[in-house]
Amino acid sequence: MTETPMASFPATRLRRLRRTPALRRLFDAPLPGPEKFIWPVFVKEGSGVREPIQAMPKQCRMSPDILVEALNPIVESGIGGILIFGLTSEREKDHEGSAAYREDGIVQTAVRKVKHAYPGMVVCTDVCLCAYTDHGHCGPRDATGDVENDAANTTLARVAVSHAAAGADIVAPSAMMDGQVASIRKALDTAAFEKTIMMSYSTKFASSMYGPFREAEQSAPQQGDRKGYQASYADARTAIRKSILDEAEGADILMVKPALFYLDIITRLRDETKLPIAAYNVSGEYAMLHAAAERGWADLKPVVRESTLAIARAGADIIISYWANQYREVFADD
Ligand code: PBG
Ligand code: ZN
Repeated sequence: MTETPMASFPATRLRRLRRTPALRRLFDAPLPGPEKFIWPVFVKEGSGVREPIQAMPKQCRMSPDILVEALNPIVESGIGGILIFGLTSEREKDHEGSAAYREDGIVQTAVRKVKHAYPGMVVCTDVCLCAYTDHGHCGPRDATGDVENDAANTTLARVAVSHAAAGADIVAPSAMMDGQVASIRKALDTAAFEKTIMMSYSTKFASSMYGPFREAEQSAPQQGDRKGYQASYADARTAIRKSILDEAEGADILMVKPALFYLDIITRLRDETKLPIAAYNVSGEYAMLHAAAERGWADLKPVVRESTLAIARAGADIIISYWANQYREVFADD
């Protein structure tokens, strides 16, 4: 078949549709609104604590009281929710990570305080053990150093139930253990938390982009790496299978993490599930844009907008992002 002459230049001129700002506005997809963003926050024991994180400008470790204060303008801006990560002191860390399920643990305390101050706010919690184990892995280790999958699941379920009991709306397991979603769902339902939502970090890659986060969380593995449990970026099929299995185990929301190096995975997963998909625009991705902007090699605002729209365009419904606490500055129209 030959193309009809009308379908090509000079009759067809695509620049017509983008000639003026008003026309472009008509055809462009909008940036996601603030309600699509979840802001990750780092909480630690104490009061009046506000420690800047070196590699993450505008992000701090906060005590619960400061977090409540910091959330005021965030709530005002209409942000969709927060995702809480807890820090624990070295002396509280043990082999199992038992500080993660204490009723008066840092995450549990922060959830209660935030829910008290802002009852309507969607509060998510990260369910993992790496910030609570003395070896820094996401579950206990056997004699060979391998992370014990099934033992980790038992502890993760306890952690999730303790977060739900404190009032978390969404628990988000990030340990990448097989069967963790089923184990947590069963424990939640047994404890009558059948309304608690589970957002699984279902396709989470063993990535080099978590560096600034591990500094913030003091959660880097003491030895070895996480390649034995987090997905391989070179094996996309298995990485997607993990999300599909998590759906079967009862996850309510799936997640791809990191976001920007994995836009293809977001799109492929979009075709395989009807569940909402979250994308986690991780610490290294945040730091990278800041670093380039600081050197004058990129303009911060346009580069943040371009990369964030790309995540939405790939198919993410919600975006977990450190830009969320600067929504107006970065995303609102000039
Ligand atoms: C814990 C966890 C990590 C991140 C979220 N949850 C780090 C890791 O797996 O080592 C990374 C988030 C970020 O880099 O912003 N399992
Ligand atoms: Zn972990």
